[in-house]
Amino acid sequence: MNIGRKRTCIWVAVFLMLTPVMSKALDNGLARTPPMGWNSWNKFGCKGINEKVVRETADQMASNGMKDAGYEYVVIDDCWQTGRDAQGNIVVDAEKFPSGIKALADYIHSKGLKFGIYTDAGTMTCAKRPGSIGHEYQDARQYAAWGVDYLKEDWCNTLPGQNSESSYTLMREALKAAGRPIVFSICEWGSTKPWLWAGAIGNLWRATPDIQDCWDCKRNWGGGGLTQIFDLMDGIESYSGPGHWNDPDMLEVGNGGMTTDEYKTHFSMWAMWSAPMLAGNDIANMSSDTKEILLNKDVIAIDQDPLGQQARRVKKTADFDIWSKQLADGGRAVALVNRGKTPTKITASWTDIGYPDSLTASVRDLWTKKEEKAVRGSFSAEVPSHGVVMVRVKP
Ligand code: GLA
Repeated sequence: MNIGRKRTCIWVAVFLMLTPVMSKALDNGLARTPPMGWNSWNKFGCKGINEKVVRETADQMASNGMKDAGYEYVVIDDCWQTGRDAQGNIVVDAEKFPSGIKALADYIHSKGLKFGIYTDAGTMTCAKRPGSIGHEYQDARQYAAWGVDYLKEDWCNTLPGQNSESSYTLMREALKAAGRPIVFSICEWGSTKPWLWAGAIGNLWRATPDIQDCWDCKRNWGGGGLTQIFDLMDGIESYSGPGHWNDPDMLEVGNGGMTTDEYKTHFSMWAMWSAPMLAGNDIANMSSDTKEILLNKDVIAIDQDPLGQQARRVKKTADFDIWSKQLADGGRAVALVNRGKTPTKITASWTDIGYPDSLTASVRDLWTKKEEKAVRGSFSAEVPSHGVVMVRVKP
């Protein structure tokens, strides 16, 4: 073979090897920016969920500014299902949802919102309700007939050796065959490194175990608070992007386990990471502090930035982190996070965030709304304990 032909063959082989990789993002056209909405689990769990709560939540979301701010999906988590009928159809918990799921979906749609539901890839959900294994196509058809727009699939009670990638692929195919656009949320808690394979299968995947409503509290079964999640989200940023997002779990803002400063840090970091923003509190009865956090449009704009980058941790000391995220307009969102017990001054230099020292830029604080113009080389801020200063830098 002459050298020219050999080279061509090598390039063709390289191209063929790369092709599957290049076409490897789920292409259902959904979740081009991180999905926003509400999920019942963090506040209402299994016991507290019922159709009244879901309707009231939808009423509030449509009228309290959340819908206008981008919150869209109303998602029922575990405990809406009780068994299967003789044909294998999933049976709805008639005590909690006496009007049925279709009526609830219609109601949510009538408010201009979208409707989401939950299942599990194993035999039973984590709360021991029926899972979808062996019924994937049947369940997906049912969800589509009800008008489901978003499906979260959990990973409890799976069979020994059950493979996560193939199980979630099966549900992806079932949803596709059902013929309705449905955002697919994979929830195996980061246990089989889903960022490595889930981009081709789901629109979002949990990258972390269950969030706890606390600043720093590692549970022995894996769950953790904010500082545990910071460390787990660091280093997987390149796997996230439009249509396929790393998911650090639903928001705890307003659930009472953290201070207002800690909740601001929580909300800011989810925006920095382009994380799905599913409020997890009782939004029909929230404090003005909680509402102010959930409705901070400047922070939400960072979450929803069309470039869809996940922030990188560009500096870490014993007491603080600096995270930086490139934005579609060439600017940066920067978060100075004080992990320590006392207030501290934190300085981010332009070189930390990928700019030359000589650059001048405006720096706008997204919580206080104060703006400094023509800043050069670096900026500094006093950050309260467990608090954040989050800014938008515009050259
Ligand atoms: C798991 C999930 C949670 C929630 C519960 C429901 O723990 O990670 O988000 O869905 O199950 O039982």
